[in-house]
Amino acid sequence: MPEVNLPAKFYPGNSREHAFRYLCEIMGQKKLQRFAELKTFPNVLEFPENMKGNWISFFKNDNPIVLELACGKGEYAVGLGELFPEKNCIGIDLKGNRIWVGAKKALQDQLTNVAFLRTEIDKIADYFSKNEVSEIWITFPDPQLRNSKAKKRLTHPKFLRQYHQFLSPSGYIHLKTDSPDLYQFTKLVIEKYHCTLHKDYDDLYSLEKNLPELQIKTYYESLDIAQSKRVHYLCFSLPEQIPGKEKDEELKKLILIENITGDKNT
Ligand SMILES: C[S@@+](CC[C@H](N)C(=O)[O-])C[C@H]1O[C@@H](n2cnc3c(N)ncnc32)[C@H](O)[C@@H]1O
Repeated sequence: MPEVNLPAKFYPGNSREHAFRYLCEIMGQKKLQRFAELKTFPNVLEFPENMKGNWISFFKNDNPIVLELACGKGEYAVGLGELFPEKNCIGIDLKGNRIWVGAKKALQDQLTNVAFLRTEIDKIADYFSKNEVSEIWITFPDPQLRNSKAKKRLTHPKFLRQYHQFLSPSGYIHLKTDSPDLYQFTKLVIEKYHCTLHKDYDDLYSLEKNLPELQIKTYYESLDIAQSKRVHYLCFSLPEQIPGKEKDEELKKLILIENITGDKNT
C-alpha cells in the first residue's frame, strides 16, 4: 500500500488503509465524472466510426491536419493549435481521463482547431485516409525498454508502415523523448528503413535558439522519468516505400548487436 499522508479529518477512520480506500474512491469518482463529461465535449471523438477521409467536415475547413500521438493531457495538440491557428491539431490517446484535460483547455480557450481522438494508436490507419495528415508529433511516448516490447514503440517500423498509409509524402514525423534508448532506436530505424533525417538534436534545450513549437512542455517531460537530464529531438520523413516486415527480423538482431535498448537480455 502506498504511503498516504492525509490528515485524519479528510477520511473516515484513522488507518492508512482507510485513507487509501478513501483516496481511491475519490479518484474513481473523478475519473467517472470525466468519462461522462468527455461524452458531451464537442471536440472529443471516442472510438468513432467513419472518420476516415471525413475530417474536413468535422473541422469545417481543409486546413492541414497535425497529429499528436500518445498525447496524454494533450499539451502539444493544444500548444500547436494556439501557435498555428491555420492548422487542425488532433491529440490521440487511449486514456479518456488524460484527454479530458487537453479537451477541456481547448474548449475553455475556444480553440476550434483542436480536437481529441480516443483510440488505440495501433488502429490509427482506420481513422485517416491517404495523404489526409500533414505532420505527426510523438511526444514522450513510453520507451518500452524491454526488447520483447520493441514492437510497441511508436517509432517501430510496424507503426511507420501505418503512418505511411495516411501521412502526406512530404510530411514530417517529430519525436521528443527523454529516453536515450528510444532516441538511439529511432535513429537506427531511420537509417535502416531509408527515412530522411531532417533534424537530430541530442540535447534540445542546450541549443541557443529554438522554434517555439519545440519549447512546448508536456506533463511526462516534467516527471523526468528517464533522468537523462536531456530531451532528444528527431525530425524525419518516410521513404516512398518502407521495407516490409521481413526487414524487422534484421532490426531485432541489430538492436542486440549494437546494444541499443535498456534490457539487453530480452
Ligand atoms: C508516457 S505517456 C506521455 C503522455 C504525453 N505525451 C506527455 O508527454 O505527457 C504515454 C501515453 O501514451 C498513451 N499510449 C501508449 N500506448 C498507446 C496506444 N497503443 N494507443 C493509445 N495510446 C497509447 C498512454 O495512454 C499515455 O497517455
